[in-house]
Amino acid sequence: EGRGSIDLSTFTKQTGYTGLDYGFVNTASTRSEITYIDGDEGILRYRGYPIEQLAEKSTFLEVAYLLINGELPNESEYGQFTNDIRRHTLLREGLKPLFQALPDSAHPMSVLSSAVAALATYYEDSLDVHDPEAVEINTIRLLAKLPVLAAYAHKKSIGQAFMYPDNSLGFVDNFLMLNFATYAEEYEPNPVLSRALERLLILHADHEQNASTSTVRLVGSTEANIYASVSAGISALYGPLHGGANEAVLNMLSEIKESGEGVGRFVERVKNKEDGVKLMGFGHRVYKSYDPRAKLVKESADEVLASLGVHDPLLEIAMELEQHALNDSYFQDRRLYPNVDFYTGIIYKAMGFPTRMFTPLFAIGRLPGWLAQWREQNQDSKSKIGRPQQLYLGATERDYPAGRDFS
Ligand code: ACO
Repeated sequence: EGRGSIDLSTFTKQTGYTGLDYGFVNTASTRSEITYIDGDEGILRYRGYPIEQLAEKSTFLEVAYLLINGELPNESEYGQFTNDIRRHTLLREGLKPLFQALPDSAHPMSVLSSAVAALATYYEDSLDVHDPEAVEINTIRLLAKLPVLAAYAHKKSIGQAFMYPDNSLGFVDNFLMLNFATYAEEYEPNPVLSRALERLLILHADHEQNASTSTVRLVGSTEANIYASVSAGISALYGPLHGGANEAVLNMLSEIKESGEGVGRFVERVKNKEDGVKLMGFGHRVYKSYDPRAKLVKESADEVLASLGVHDPLLEIAMELEQHALNDSYFQDRRLYPNVDFYTGIIYKAMGFPTRMFTPLFAIGRLPGWLAQWREQNQDSKSKIGRPQQLYLGATERDYPAGRDFS
């Protein structure tokens, strides 16, 4: 189908053929109409619209609507959608002690996945995954509440009181306010930062069948509710080989700076695979050329730092690393380029987010994709419970040793 894939679903049934495909490098788990990627050409399109155009012209909620519903909203649909989301930003007060029960040192991604799973306990209409009205309202609830939960995870980690959402603010400014306002000091929106964050959220909004989205689909395929599915997606995103890479990149840059070892020596260690060290923020399963999102993120990094008048030595280290890698045959031969995570941390840091909040920011961006993919699967008549096969290599049959008794 277009890119040389074949539908094996009938074939498999007829022949009993099973392929072993570690990491699903060659196996499609679904058909989809949401996101198109051409990894060789560095192309990313949501519902056919190029990512570059969406990043320049649209808002995050417009993109969320597009991913979920298949078309860009008209003015009245957009007004209705954004109003609905605004009306659902409040959390049940009963949920707040959940945050207090966890240590202040908790990683915000652990807090976030727990809090999202807990939302299901308040919205049991989500248990009926085939009721379109319930799916719709719980989609809105998640879009509205995930940023609030993430901001509370942040506030908790710095020992500050939770702010109530201010629904007179736009989606992004409300989120920034929840993170950076205190009851002693108001948050002054900065249009450059708001636009940069809006753009970053758009760039993260979907990426077809990546690890977290596949997790959301796999959990959803059991007809588990949408909160359980998204919570599982957040857990998958947490790992440093996936969304956690944005945090890992900043830690890597800081370590290079602190150790004084120099970029050249660090790259040598990566190439020699010393202690399994990798160039975090580089490489991608699908992109074998420059990640189109990384280009746009780099532009935003330049804009944000210039507007804040910040000179970040970590940006210089990152650019030096990129140049080293792009000119090195190790990276060229393996077609390793910067991915979306390489420069995002520099921007989030300049905005004032602590490193541990970087992956929750990714989760907020990716949520529309998870929701769109969960819903698409739910409506696909060919969907089945996900249940991979295995190649069994263990003992075929053994008798329990005679005389052994632990009872
Ligand atoms: N640094 C050094 N070497 C690398 C890197 C890297 N970042 N990425 C891949 N390689 C090497 C591998 O060691 C392997 O080398 P080999 O052939 O000598 O064994 C070769 O390139 C192929 O890599 P694989 O691991 O087979 O590629 P895969 O598609 O399985 O992994 C992944 C993709 C996980 C993204 C990998 O490139 C990686 O670990 N990157 C660093 C983490 C990262 O930035 N993750 C974010 C991805 S984007 C996202 O999730 C939003």
